[in-house]
Amino acid sequence: MKITGKSCLVTGGAGFIGSHLVDVLIKYCCKVRVLDNFINGKPDNISHHFGNENFQLLRGSVTDPVDVQRAVQGIDVIFHLACLGVRHSIAHPFENHRVNSEGSLLVSDASYRAGVERFIYCSSSEVYGTAQYVPMPESHPTNPCTVYGAGKLAGEAYTRAYHRTYGMATVIVRPFNTYGPRSHHEGDAGEMIPKSIVRALNGEPIMVFGDGLQTRDFTYVVDTARSLVIAAENDSMIGQTLNIGSDVEISMKDLAYKIAEMVGNPKTEILFTPNRPGDVFRLFADTKKFMGLCDWEPQVSFDEGLAMTVGFFRNHPLGIEALMEGESGRNWEEVNK
Ligand SMILES: NC(=O)c1ccc[n+]([C@@H]2O[C@H](COP(=O)([O-])OP(=O)(O)OC[C@H]3O[C@@H](n4cnc5c(N)ncnc54)[C@H](O)[C@@H]3O)[C@@H](O)[C@H]2O)c1
Repeated sequence: MKITGKSCLVTGGAGFIGSHLVDVLIKYCCKVRVLDNFINGKPDNISHHFGNENFQLLRGSVTDPVDVQRAVQGIDVIFHLACLGVRHSIAHPFENHRVNSEGSLLVSDASYRAGVERFIYCSSSEVYGTAQYVPMPESHPTNPCTVYGAGKLAGEAYTRAYHRTYGMATVIVRPFNTYGPRSHHEGDAGEMIPKSIVRALNGEPIMVFGDGLQTRDFTYVVDTARSLVIAAENDSMIGQTLNIGSDVEISMKDLAYKIAEMVGNPKTEILFTPNRPGDVFRLFADTKKFMGLCDWEPQVSFDEGLAMTVGFFRNHPLGIEALMEGESGRNWEEVNK
């Protein structure tokens, strides 16, 4: 199936990865509809498409059957990305479950009833829990540590059920960690790379949780967005579950020093603080299955991507001091009280 000219729905399309996916789809001359309730999504992420006749924004929730029904009408391809994040799930397990798992069931069901051509479920490496061995293929046991990981896994199971029971053409993509411009530094959506960049740019210590020996496999956001489009186009991926990663494993400690250097302030203090609850110790993807089915490979190296991410925050229209106000340190705690 060629994506060019297709009508696509991106749930969570005003978010970090979703908005980059929208950019890629618009380049492919798709008609793109976004369903987002802006709980973490930002108008600025997609405002460059306002006024484009191929772009439509629906403000609504994936937990509301009426919103979802409206969103899937006339759509060929669904990219389901809307979610609440891993840190959010620590203090708000039921709300997190309702969006990530029940919302996914609602979107799967409506997509099936609307007769869509493809349903792409954006899962997460958090479904694995910590690595029992590396690199981690799709057959690695799924043992999520958090309600977020459990909810994403439930979403996968619903997606698989709609493929097996009703024959819906689905693909489950499991991106490992993703970073880049528009990533969240703020509140309980904030992640290590953007939080650390904002702190270092402000001359504040970079916070490392635990001993910093935890590792992650980071993919640049445009590479992740491209992988989702390939998953929709490639017929041999129907019914499959596929990892996305970059073959780069880095510890949080090394990452902290790297970021300090990248922002031009290598003397930035690295502050070691107690561990995060539910933190996965090691994640490192085996991407042979996905790469064996298509010619995708990451186009942006970690150093290039990190430099572009630093540039995004350094030149942010709000200014780095204002960004620091949204950075909440141990962001599963105070922001949720
Ligand atoms: N960022 C990563 O490192 C990463 C890694 C693996 C997988 N993922 C997956 O990628 C997808 C996108 O994640 P992201 O990092 O862009 O997060 P994000 O928070 O930037 O995007 C999620 C979007 O969903 C929206 N949303 C939340 N609840 C909603 C609801 N009830 N109805 C409609 N919209 C709602 C938010 O406003 C936001 O715009 C998620 O499914 C996530 O599990 C992300």
